[in-house]
Amino acid sequence: MLILGIDTSCDDTSAAVIEDRKILSNIVSSQIKFHSKYGGIVPEIASRKHLEWIWDVTEKALSIANVELKEIDLISVCHGPGLIGSLLVGLCFAKSISFSAQKPIIGVNHLDAHIQAVFLEEKYPEFPFLSLIVSGGHTSLYRVDDFGKYRELGRTRDDAAGEAYDKVAKMLGLSYPGGPIIDALAQEGNPNKYKLPKPFLHGSLDFSFSGLKTAIKVLLKSLNIQEGNPPEDFKKDFSACFQAVVVEVLIEKIKKALKGEALNRVVITGGVAANSELRKRAMELEGDGIEVYLPSKALCTDNAAMIAIAGFHKFQTGERSDLFLNARAYLPL
Ligand code: KG4
Ligand code: ZN
Repeated sequence: MLILGIDTSCDDTSAAVIEDRKILSNIVSSQIKFHSKYGGIVPEIASRKHLEWIWDVTEKALSIANVELKEIDLISVCHGPGLIGSLLVGLCFAKSISFSAQKPIIGVNHLDAHIQAVFLEEKYPEFPFLSLIVSGGHTSLYRVDDFGKYRELGRTRDDAAGEAYDKVAKMLGLSYPGGPIIDALAQEGNPNKYKLPKPFLHGSLDFSFSGLKTAIKVLLKSLNIQEGNPPEDFKKDFSACFQAVVVEVLIEKIKKALKGEALNRVVITGGVAANSELRKRAMELEGDGIEVYLPSKALCTDNAAMIAIAGFHKFQTGERSDLFLNARAYLPL
Protein backbone atom coordinates (compact mmCIF):
# COMPACT_ATOMS: atom_id res chain seq x y z
CA MET A 1 0.00 0.00 0.00
CA LEU A 2 1.34 3.47 -0.92
CA ILE A 3 0.73 6.18 1.66
CA LEU A 4 1.36 9.90 1.27
CA GLY A 5 2.05 11.54 4.65
CA ILE A 6 1.80 15.30 5.30
CA ASP A 7 2.92 17.22 8.39
CA THR A 8 2.74 21.00 8.88
CA SER A 9 2.09 21.03 12.61
CA CYS A 10 4.83 23.46 13.58
CA ASP A 11 7.69 24.96 11.56
CA ASP A 12 8.72 22.08 9.26
CA THR A 13 6.90 21.55 5.97
CA SER A 14 7.06 17.83 5.40
CA ALA A 15 5.74 15.24 2.95
CA ALA A 16 6.67 11.57 2.64
CA VAL A 17 5.75 8.48 0.71
CA ILE A 18 5.93 5.06 2.35
CA GLU A 19 5.10 1.65 0.98
CA ASP A 20 3.69 -0.24 3.97
CA ARG A 21 6.57 0.15 6.48
CA LYS A 22 9.23 1.13 3.94
CA ILE A 23 10.19 4.79 3.46
CA LEU A 24 10.38 5.75 -0.24
CA SER A 25 10.87 9.48 0.46
CA ASN A 26 10.74 11.75 3.52
CA ILE A 27 11.17 15.45 2.70
CA VAL A 28 11.47 17.92 5.58
CA SER A 29 11.83 21.55 4.58
CA SER A 30 13.02 23.50 7.60
CA GLN A 31 11.90 27.08 8.17
CA ILE A 32 14.42 27.66 10.94
CA LYS A 33 16.29 30.48 9.22
CA PHE A 34 13.08 32.54 9.03
CA HIS A 35 12.37 32.11 12.77
CA SER A 36 15.79 31.98 14.47
CA LYS A 37 16.27 35.76 14.61
CA TYR A 38 13.09 35.98 16.72
CA GLY A 39 14.35 33.32 19.17
CA GLY A 40 11.37 31.01 18.54
CA ILE A 41 8.63 30.12 16.10
CA VAL A 42 6.50 33.00 14.78
CA PRO A 43 3.14 31.30 14.01
CA GLU A 44 2.18 33.79 11.27
CA ILE A 45 5.48 33.24 9.40
CA ALA A 46 5.16 29.45 9.85
CA SER A 47 1.74 29.25 8.20
CA ARG A 48 2.76 31.55 5.34
CA LYS A 49 5.85 29.44 4.60
CA HIS A 50 3.82 26.21 4.71
CA LEU A 51 1.46 27.77 2.18
CA GLU A 52 4.36 28.68 -0.13
CA TRP A 53 6.12 25.33 0.17
CA ILE A 54 3.56 22.58 0.65
CA TRP A 55 2.96 21.84 -3.03
CA ASP A 56 6.69 21.78 -3.96
CA VAL A 57 7.56 19.62 -0.96
CA THR A 58 4.79 17.14 -1.83
CA GLU A 59 5.83 17.03 -5.50
CA LYS A 60 9.40 16.37 -4.42
CA ALA A 61 8.30 13.55 -2.09
CA LEU A 62 6.31 11.94 -4.92
CA SER A 63 9.09 12.35 -7.46
CA ILE A 64 11.85 10.95 -5.18
CA ALA A 65 9.58 7.99 -4.41
CA ASN A 66 9.01 7.66 -8.16
CA VAL A 67 5.27 7.56 -7.57
CA GLU A 68 2.43 9.56 -9.16
CA LEU A 69 -0.43 10.94 -7.11
CA LYS A 70 -2.88 8.64 -8.92
CA GLU A 71 -0.93 5.61 -7.58
CA ILE A 72 -1.28 6.71 -3.92
CA ASP A 73 -3.71 4.55 -1.90
CA LEU A 74 -4.09 6.75 1.20
CA ILE A 75 -3.42 10.34 2.29
CA SER A 76 -2.44 10.58 5.93
CA VAL A 77 -2.33 14.06 7.43
CA CYS A 78 -1.52 15.48 10.85
CA HIS A 79 -4.54 17.42 12.19
CA GLY A 80 -3.24 18.20 15.70
CA PRO A 81 -1.90 19.07 18.17
CA GLY A 82 0.12 21.99 16.86
CA LEU A 83 -0.06 25.60 15.69
CA ILE A 84 -3.57 26.04 14.35
CA GLY A 85 -2.61 28.15 11.32
CA SER A 86 0.16 25.73 10.36
CA LEU A 87 -2.05 22.65 10.80
CA LEU A 88 -4.79 24.19 8.65
CA VAL A 89 -2.45 24.61 5.67
CA GLY A 90 -1.43 20.93 5.59
CA LEU A 91 -4.95 19.74 6.33
CA CYS A 92 -6.66 21.89 3.65
CA PHE A 93 -4.02 20.84 1.15
CA ALA A 94 -4.46 17.15 2.00
CA LYS A 95 -8.25 17.43 1.81
CA SER A 96 -8.01 19.18 -1.58
CA ILE A 97 -5.87 16.47 -3.15
CA SER A 98 -7.98 13.77 -1.50
CA PHE A 99 -11.08 15.30 -3.11
CA SER A 100 -9.58 16.00 -6.53
CA ALA A 101 -7.71 12.67 -6.87
CA GLN A 102 -10.50 10.71 -5.11
CA LYS A 103 -8.20 9.19 -2.50
CA PRO A 104 -9.12 8.19 1.07
CA ILE A 105 -7.84 10.52 3.77
CA ILE A 106 -7.05 9.85 7.41
CA GLY A 107 -6.26 12.32 10.20
CA VAL A 108 -3.39 11.52 12.55
CA ASN A 109 -2.44 12.81 15.98
CA HIS A 110 1.12 14.20 15.92
CA LEU A 111 1.99 12.45 19.22
CA ASP A 112 0.68 9.11 17.94
CA ALA A 113 2.95 9.60 14.92
CA HIS A 114 6.01 10.34 17.11
CA ILE A 115 5.41 7.06 18.98
CA GLN A 116 4.90 5.13 15.74
CA ALA A 117 8.06 6.45 14.05
CA VAL A 118 9.83 3.44 15.58
CA PHE A 119 7.82 1.10 13.30
CA LEU A 120 9.66 2.56 10.31
CA GLU A 121 12.91 1.12 11.69
CA GLU A 122 14.28 -2.39 11.14
CA LYS A 123 14.24 -2.92 14.89
CA TYR A 124 10.84 -2.21 16.48
CA PRO A 125 9.23 -3.39 19.69
CA GLU A 126 6.46 -5.81 20.46
CA PHE A 127 3.56 -4.57 22.59
CA PRO A 128 3.31 -3.58 25.39
CA PHE A 129 6.01 -0.94 25.79
CA LEU A 130 6.73 2.36 27.51
CA SER A 131 7.04 5.44 25.32
CA LEU A 132 8.70 8.72 26.24
CA ILE A 133 7.81 11.55 23.86
CA VAL A 134 10.27 14.33 24.48
CA SER A 135 10.05 17.28 22.10
CA GLY A 136 9.68 21.05 21.90
CA GLY A 137 5.99 20.84 22.73
CA HIS A 138 5.70 17.68 24.84
CA THR A 139 7.36 15.62 27.52
CA SER A 140 5.07 12.70 28.31
CA LEU A 141 5.28 9.06 29.30
CA TYR A 142 2.76 6.59 27.91
CA ARG A 143 2.06 2.95 28.40
CA VAL A 144 1.40 1.56 24.89
CA ASP A 145 -0.59 -1.69 24.73
CA ASP A 146 -1.38 -1.66 21.00
CA PHE A 147 -1.76 0.80 18.11
CA GLY A 148 -4.06 3.48 19.45
CA LYS A 149 -4.13 2.02 22.97
CA TYR A 150 -2.23 4.54 25.05
CA ARG A 151 -2.39 5.44 28.73
CA GLU A 152 -0.64 8.58 29.91
CA LEU A 153 1.51 7.94 32.98
CA GLY A 154 3.08 11.37 33.37
CA ARG A 155 3.57 14.68 31.60
CA THR A 156 5.31 17.98 32.09
CA ARG A 157 3.58 20.39 34.43
CA ASP A 158 5.21 23.40 32.77
CA ASP A 159 7.89 23.56 30.04
CA ALA A 160 8.59 20.61 27.73
CA ALA A 161 12.23 19.46 27.80
CA GLY A 162 12.90 20.84 24.29
CA GLU A 163 11.27 24.13 25.28
CA ALA A 164 13.59 24.31 28.31
CA TYR A 165 16.58 23.70 26.02
CA ASP A 166 15.41 26.46 23.67
CA LYS A 167 14.71 28.97 26.47
CA VAL A 168 17.99 28.32 28.27
CA ALA A 169 19.80 28.62 24.92
CA LYS A 170 18.25 32.06 24.46
CA MET A 171 19.54 33.11 27.91
CA LEU A 172 22.98 31.90 26.87
CA GLY A 173 22.80 34.03 23.72
CA LEU A 174 22.51 30.99 21.42
CA SER A 175 20.26 30.83 18.39
CA TYR A 176 17.04 28.86 17.87
CA PRO A 177 16.58 25.91 18.17
CA GLY A 178 18.90 25.66 21.15
CA GLY A 179 18.74 21.89 21.73
CA PRO A 180 21.38 20.79 19.21
CA ILE A 181 23.66 23.76 20.08
CA ILE A 182 23.56 23.05 23.83
CA ASP A 183 24.15 19.37 23.03
CA ALA A 184 27.32 20.27 21.08
CA LEU A 185 28.59 22.78 23.68
CA ALA A 186 27.99 20.28 26.51
CA GLN A 187 30.55 17.92 24.95
CA GLU A 188 33.26 20.43 25.87
CA GLY A 189 31.93 21.51 29.28
CA ASN A 190 32.28 20.30 32.87
CA PRO A 191 28.96 18.77 34.01
CA ASN A 192 29.94 19.20 37.69
CA LYS A 193 30.89 22.87 37.55
CA TYR A 194 27.56 24.32 38.74
CA LYS A 195 25.05 22.80 41.11
CA LEU A 196 21.54 22.93 39.62
CA PRO A 197 18.27 21.80 41.17
CA LYS A 198 17.13 18.35 40.01
CA PRO A 199 13.36 18.45 39.50
CA PHE A 200 12.47 14.84 40.31
CA LEU A 201 8.94 15.51 41.71
CA HIS A 202 9.24 12.42 43.90
CA GLY A 203 6.23 10.13 43.96
CA SER A 204 5.05 11.26 40.50
CA LEU A 205 5.88 10.47 36.88
CA ASP A 206 5.28 14.12 35.95
CA PHE A 207 8.09 16.44 34.88
CA SER A 208 8.91 20.08 35.61
CA PHE A 209 11.69 21.91 33.79
CA SER A 210 10.78 25.57 34.21
CA GLY A 211 12.77 25.90 37.46
CA LEU A 212 15.97 25.47 35.47
CA LYS A 213 15.37 28.86 33.84
CA THR A 214 15.22 30.48 37.26
CA ALA A 215 18.38 28.61 38.29
CA ILE A 216 20.35 30.05 35.37
CA LYS A 217 19.01 33.56 36.08
CA VAL A 218 20.14 33.32 39.71
CA LEU A 219 23.50 31.86 38.70
CA LEU A 220 24.16 34.56 36.09
CA LYS A 221 23.30 37.25 38.64
CA SER A 222 25.54 35.75 41.33
CA LEU A 223 28.44 35.57 38.85
CA ASN A 224 27.72 39.09 37.60
CA ILE A 225 27.29 37.84 34.03
CA GLN A 226 24.92 39.58 31.63
CA GLU A 227 22.01 37.43 30.41
CA GLY A 228 22.25 36.68 26.68
CA ASN A 229 25.97 37.33 26.54
CA PRO A 230 27.95 35.00 28.83
CA PRO A 231 31.61 34.07 28.19
CA GLU A 232 32.33 30.97 26.07
CA ASP A 233 33.55 28.85 29.01
CA PHE A 234 30.36 29.57 30.96
CA LYS A 235 28.26 28.51 27.94
CA LYS A 236 30.08 25.18 27.70
CA ASP A 237 30.05 24.39 31.43
CA PHE A 238 26.46 25.51 31.95
CA SER A 239 25.32 23.50 28.88
CA ALA A 240 26.99 20.38 30.31
CA CYS A 241 25.41 20.91 33.77
CA PHE A 242 21.95 21.67 32.35
CA GLN A 243 22.04 18.69 30.00
CA ALA A 244 23.19 16.35 32.77
CA VAL A 245 20.20 17.35 34.94
CA VAL A 246 17.61 17.07 32.14
CA VAL A 247 18.91 13.68 31.00
CA GLU A 248 19.15 12.34 34.56
CA VAL A 249 15.53 13.28 35.24
CA LEU A 250 14.33 11.69 31.98
CA ILE A 251 16.26 8.45 32.62
CA GLU A 252 15.09 8.20 36.26
CA LYS A 253 11.44 8.65 35.22
CA ILE A 254 11.83 5.99 32.50
CA LYS A 255 13.22 3.53 35.08
CA LYS A 256 10.46 4.32 37.54
CA ALA A 257 7.70 3.96 34.93
CA LEU A 258 9.13 0.66 33.63
CA LYS A 259 9.18 -0.68 37.15
CA GLY A 260 5.71 0.59 38.04
CA GLU A 261 4.17 -0.90 34.89
CA ALA A 262 6.27 -4.08 34.97
CA LEU A 263 7.52 -3.38 31.42
CA ASN A 264 10.93 -4.09 29.93
CA ARG A 265 10.73 -2.17 26.63
CA VAL A 266 11.04 1.57 26.08
CA VAL A 267 10.73 3.72 22.95
CA ILE A 268 12.19 7.23 23.18
CA THR A 269 11.10 9.65 20.49
CA GLY A 270 10.57 13.35 19.67
CA GLY A 271 13.17 16.01 18.87
CA VAL A 272 15.06 15.77 22.18
CA ALA A 273 15.53 12.03 21.56
CA ALA A 274 18.19 13.20 19.07
CA ASN A 275 20.25 14.34 22.09
CA SER A 276 23.59 12.55 22.28
CA GLU A 277 23.73 12.27 26.09
CA LEU A 278 20.13 11.00 26.32
CA ARG A 279 20.85 8.40 23.62
CA LYS A 280 24.01 7.28 25.42
CA ARG A 281 22.36 7.02 28.84
CA ALA A 282 19.30 5.30 27.38
CA MET A 283 21.39 2.62 25.67
CA GLU A 284 23.08 1.91 29.03
CA LEU A 285 19.67 0.70 30.29
CA GLU A 286 20.13 -2.34 28.05
CA GLY A 287 22.69 -3.56 30.61
CA ASP A 288 19.74 -3.94 33.04
CA GLY A 289 17.85 -6.19 30.61
CA ILE A 290 15.68 -3.40 29.18
CA GLU A 291 15.03 -3.31 25.42
CA VAL A 292 15.71 0.26 24.26
CA TYR A 293 14.32 1.55 20.96
CA LEU A 294 15.65 4.85 19.67
CA PRO A 295 14.52 5.80 16.17
CA SER A 296 17.22 7.39 13.97
CA LYS A 297 17.62 11.12 14.59
CA ALA A 298 15.77 12.02 11.36
CA LEU A 299 12.76 9.99 12.53
CA CYS A 300 12.87 11.46 16.07
CA THR A 301 12.38 15.05 14.90
CA ASP A 302 9.24 16.12 13.02
CA ASN A 303 8.80 14.35 9.69
CA ALA A 304 5.92 13.13 7.51
CA ALA A 305 6.96 9.46 7.27
CA MET A 306 5.85 9.06 10.91
CA ILE A 307 2.45 10.57 9.97
CA ALA A 308 2.18 8.12 7.07
CA ILE A 309 2.90 5.02 9.19
CA ALA A 310 0.44 6.09 11.91
CA GLY A 311 -2.24 6.63 9.21
CA PHE A 312 -1.45 3.25 7.68
CA HIS A 313 -2.03 1.45 10.98
CA LYS A 314 -5.31 3.32 11.58
CA PHE A 315 -6.47 2.52 8.04
CA GLN A 316 -5.74 -1.17 8.60
CA THR A 317 -8.17 -1.19 11.51
CA GLY A 318 -10.89 0.18 9.22
CA GLU A 319 -10.71 3.79 10.41
CA ARG A 320 -11.37 6.57 7.84
CA SER A 321 -11.69 10.36 8.00
CA ASP A 322 -13.77 12.56 5.73
CA LEU A 323 -13.62 16.10 4.41
CA PHE A 324 -15.14 17.42 7.66
CA LEU A 325 -11.89 16.55 9.43
CA ASN A 326 -10.78 19.63 11.36
CA ALA A 327 -7.47 20.94 12.71
CA ARG A 328 -7.11 20.96 16.52
CA ALA A 329 -4.44 22.96 18.33
CA TYR A 330 -5.09 20.81 21.41
CA LEU A 331 -5.64 17.15 20.64
CA PRO A 332 -4.95 14.64 23.42
CA LEU A 333 -3.91 11.11 22.52
O1 KG4 B 1 9.87 16.85 17.74
P1 KG4 B 1 10.41 18.16 17.29
O2 KG4 B 1 11.15 18.21 15.98
O3 KG4 B 1 9.26 19.23 17.18
C1 KG4 B 1 8.22 19.29 18.14
O4 KG4 B 1 7.19 18.57 17.92
O5 KG4 B 1 8.42 20.01 19.14
O6 KG4 B 1 11.33 18.71 18.49
C2 KG4 B 1 11.99 19.96 18.42
C3 KG4 B 1 12.73 20.17 19.75
C4 KG4 B 1 13.35 21.56 19.88
O7 KG4 B 1 13.01 22.07 21.16
C5 KG4 B 1 14.85 21.28 19.80
O8 KG4 B 1 15.64 22.21 20.53
C6 KG4 B 1 14.95 19.89 20.37
O9 KG4 B 1 13.81 19.22 19.86
N1 KG4 B 1 16.17 19.17 19.94
C7 KG4 B 1 17.15 18.80 20.78
C8 KG4 B 1 18.16 18.20 20.00
N2 KG4 B 1 17.76 18.23 18.68
C9 KG4 B 1 16.52 18.83 18.67
N3 KG4 B 1 17.25 18.92 22.12
C10 KG4 B 1 18.37 18.46 22.70
N4 KG4 B 1 19.40 17.89 22.01
C11 KG4 B 1 19.33 17.74 20.67
N5 KG4 B 1 20.35 17.18 20.01
ZN1 ZN C 1 6.92 16.80 17.03
